[in-house]
Amino acid sequence: MREKLDKLRDELRSRIGVATELEELEKTRVQFLGKKGILTMLMRNIQELPVTEKPLMGKLLNELKQFAAGEIEEKKSQLLEKLRLQKQEAERIDVTLPGMRFNYGSRHPITLVLEEIEEIFTCMGFQIGEGPDVELDHYNFTALNMPPEHPARDMQDSFYTDKEMLLRTHTSPVQIRTMEKMAPALPVRIIAPGKVYRRDDDITHSPMFHQVEGLAVDRGISLADLKGTLLLFVREMFGRGREIRLRPSFFPFTEPSAEVDISCIICNGRGCRTCGNSGWLEILGAGLVHPYVLEVCGYDPEAVSGFAFGMGVERIAMLKYGIDDIRLFYINDLRMLRT
Ligand code: PHE
Repeated sequence: MREKLDKLRDELRSRIGVATELEELEKTRVQFLGKKGILTMLMRNIQELPVTEKPLMGKLLNELKQFAAGEIEEKKSQLLEKLRLQKQEAERIDVTLPGMRFNYGSRHPITLVLEEIEEIFTCMGFQIGEGPDVELDHYNFTALNMPPEHPARDMQDSFYTDKEMLLRTHTSPVQIRTMEKMAPALPVRIIAPGKVYRRDDDITHSPMFHQVEGLAVDRGISLADLKGTLLLFVREMFGRGREIRLRPSFFPFTEPSAEVDISCIICNGRGCRTCGNSGWLEILGAGLVHPYVLEVCGYDPEAVSGFAFGMGVERIAMLKYGIDDIRLFYINDLRMLRT
């Protein structure tokens, strides 16, 4: 019996010694110490031994059991530690590896220019007005002094959605919507940035582009207020040295009407290719609000007056950033978007 136990002890030792996996070790444990394990069985068999041998055998067997349990436990923690180290190694982060590059987004040049325009005018006390892109014929034309038979309607070839609705051809309908809502309150002072749509497509025209409308209505507003406001805007936008000039023009909804030029930002007025040697660049249309328009919107043209202007945002962005093809704004070329 004693020899048998010694053999078992040796076997156990070598089995534990070669075990490299936890499962392997667990198998050994079950084989020796499990409910039907070798040592458990031997313990039961002690009953059948002669009385003289029982105590000694019991003691030896117990020692062996304790030895087995201790060895297995010890090996188990070794294996667990090994696993932990392996896992740690696998998850190690090499901080010297090059990082991943992020593609930063940036704002579109049109958005930047729009925000700049809004900033300049809100600083002067203008609020932001809004109107729908799909507009009633009434607001886009009729209320702006362009009745159905008016020839000015032909000036703007429009996208109609049905007989009375169209994609607005300019932001001027927001003038009407704003005054209708506010009348007879004074003063009215808004700018209305937004998209407009015309049947046009070449290097300086896009079927969709952006405008900013301006409108001020109060007692005693004159052409001088318009000119002062625009001069301040132009100098904020294009630099202190800019000059402006107003040329007589025609719009059905302003009287008098003017086209506004700035001194050429390329040649400073001396004459170059960009300004066609004139020294001036046209940037917007403007005028004093036509009495008919004031009246339609509920203001008394005898008591109040106003000025209005409308500028093309793409045109301003092209001048500011020296871009010569309007289509570059819409093709999502990253080189363009990174400016
Ligand atoms: N709506 C005109 C256009 O699109 C511009 C304009 C606005 C002119 C306001 C005068 C006053 O051409």
